[in-house]
Amino acid sequence: MLKNGIEIASASEADMPAIEQLAKRFDLDCENISMNQFLVAKRNNKIIGFGRLRKYPACTEIATVGVIPEEQKRGVGSLLVKELIRSGPDEIFVTCVISGFFKKFGFQLVKQYPSVLQKKVDFCISYDFKPEEVFVMKFSK
Ligand SMILES: CC(C)(COP(=O)(O)OP(=O)(O)OC[C@H]1O[C@@H](n2cnc3c(N)ncnc32)[C@H](O)[C@@H]1OP(=O)(O)O)[C@@H](O)C(=O)NCCC(=O)NCCS
Repeated sequence: MLKNGIEIASASEADMPAIEQLAKRFDLDCENISMNQFLVAKRNNKIIGFGRLRKYPACTEIATVGVIPEEQKRGVGSLLVKELIRSGPDEIFVTCVISGFFKKFGFQLVKQYPSVLQKKVDFCISYDFKPEEVFVMKFSK
């Protein structure tokens, strides 16, 4: 998919080192990363953003969404999230500290969620977020 010079595509093996490096730099979830989970956004063949559908036995979540600082606020993150939603199952979760961003796409806060996501909540809290700043949200098609 190409929009405003931004290409969104499935990640290739060659994209993975850069994705992992950027994800670490942004303190994002780097657990169990694999190529077939990721979409990448590129401009002039350079990775400017990425995101993945992380599948657990009990649910799927959008995870590890990042856009390089100089390309933020230009719609790249939104393009990635919309495409992840489109290619994902009917029910998708996200665990985040930026509920306002995900609300725009139709994610709603949920108080009850699959227990595997508690680990993700704890991961966010370990990065100095307060429990009340971490949200689990659900999108239903
Ligand atoms: C969050 C992130 C992916 C958004 O990507 P982006 O390309 O800047 O997003 P877009 O340009 O598509 O959308 C920007 C919109 O999101 C909102 N937004 C961006 N960051 C936000 C934040 N931290 N909290 C709330 N809203 C946010 C902007 O206000 C803007 O809203 P508007 O369109 O109504 O003006 C990007 O800022 C990023 O990589 N941040 C660091 C990593 C991160 O926090 N990832 C989330 C992991 S769950």
